[in-house]
Amino acid sequence: MLRTALRRLGYTVAGGAAGTAMVYRNDFKQLEFDLASASGPLVRLFDVETSHKIGILAAKMGVFPKETRPDPACLRTTVWGREFPNPLGVAAGFDKDAEVIEPLLALGFGFVEVGSITPLPQPGNPKPRAFRLPEHGAVINRYGFNSEGAYAARNRLAAFRQKQAAAASGSFPAGLLGVNLGKNKLSEDAAADYSTGVTKLAPFADYLVINISSPNTPGLRSLQGRKELETLVKSVKQTRDGMKWAGPLGPPPLLVKIAPDLTSDDMEDIAAVALAQGIDGLIVSNTTITRPGPIGEDPVGKETGGLSGKPLFQMATEVLRQMYTLTGGKLPIIGVGGVSSGEDAYAKIRAGASLVELYSAFAYEGPKLVPRVKRELAELLERDGFSSVAEAVGADHRVAAAVLAK
Ligand SMILES: Cc1cc2nc3c(=O)[nH]c(=O)nc-3n(C[C@H](O)[C@H](O)[C@H](O)COP(=O)(O)O)c2cc1C
Repeated sequence: MLRTALRRLGYTVAGGAAGTAMVYRNDFKQLEFDLASASGPLVRLFDVETSHKIGILAAKMGVFPKETRPDPACLRTTVWGREFPNPLGVAAGFDKDAEVIEPLLALGFGFVEVGSITPLPQPGNPKPRAFRLPEHGAVINRYGFNSEGAYAARNRLAAFRQKQAAAASGSFPAGLLGVNLGKNKLSEDAAADYSTGVTKLAPFADYLVINISSPNTPGLRSLQGRKELETLVKSVKQTRDGMKWAGPLGPPPLLVKIAPDLTSDDMEDIAAVALAQGIDGLIVSNTTITRPGPIGEDPVGKETGGLSGKPLFQMATEVLRQMYTLTGGKLPIIGVGGVSSGEDAYAKIRAGASLVELYSAFAYEGPKLVPRVKRELAELLERDGFSSVAEAVGADHRVAAAVLAK
């Protein structure tokens, strides 16, 4: 009887064949995702920070659904020699203290970026420090790197890797782990802070991020300047390369996460340093300190902090597009900022992203967002004749070049 009722609602017993864009649609597994997201409006009766804590607790208690439907083959992608089951990741800030990596991967994310993790524990800014703008699909936060510190994170990352290594083949969720590093507010030596993060956490990371773009730590974003970035990257790279790396993949790639609020000159400088110093990739972008369009008129828009979500999409995608051009497509870029659909993810990929992350849309929509974005992305790739994500990376630039050549 239940099955008949569910069929009437449009759920089918089995999804489409694996490997096609039809997977994830209205099967019984999808019902699990839809139900898990149904509590969203209730959870949002609480303030942002409490809702987030409830989300983390739910994930820890095993309440999140587990994706068992295979990702379409076209979503599998290899970046830095590392294989991602799909290109959709959780952006930094959701799992700041590396508490729920496994349940996030089990939801079907292709990777999880934990952090930002500071060397020493610190409380961050006074509360309240995060605000919703629901009618704009946006969030403003000024957390200021609240972090339990590298020691706590190290223990959790080690436990995660141990469990992963001990799991029988196929019984642990696929997907990779990025570790995003921050600096302590009161530290005067940024390079030493990021190097401490590398020393303590790099052994567990599939990639590392130097986050120098959060707007809520005084002076942090000035590290994006040419000279400062050069000095910082040299020093952090030296730390990483001085460590022992067993295995065929070598050390984890080192990425730099940048702000969307950069001038053309800033972007040129960052691209030049990235190429000259051998940075392995960029994350574009963090939150913006600007208040585009109607956000400026919203009373909540007046709160200090970084704006994320839908209003960030366009500016973050344009910075991504420019960074792809300035680096000649040589550096893999993780595109982030305002992604809430497969169409958005696809636009980031066409603008030059090899991987895509999101946060705010996940906070609003919950677990069901994950299969939806992947299904829509697979459908768009198929529609445009791309057999893989990699084939579509930077496609807009090739179209533009072909038009110019005519
Ligand atoms: C509440 C909140 C906390 C965040 N904390 C971090 C952080 O600690 N480190 C970081 O690099 N980015 C952080 N971010 C930025 C996100 O990783 C991402 O770059 C940004 O939110 C844009 O993506 P979105 O529009 O999908 O949310 C945070 C974002 C939000 C909303």
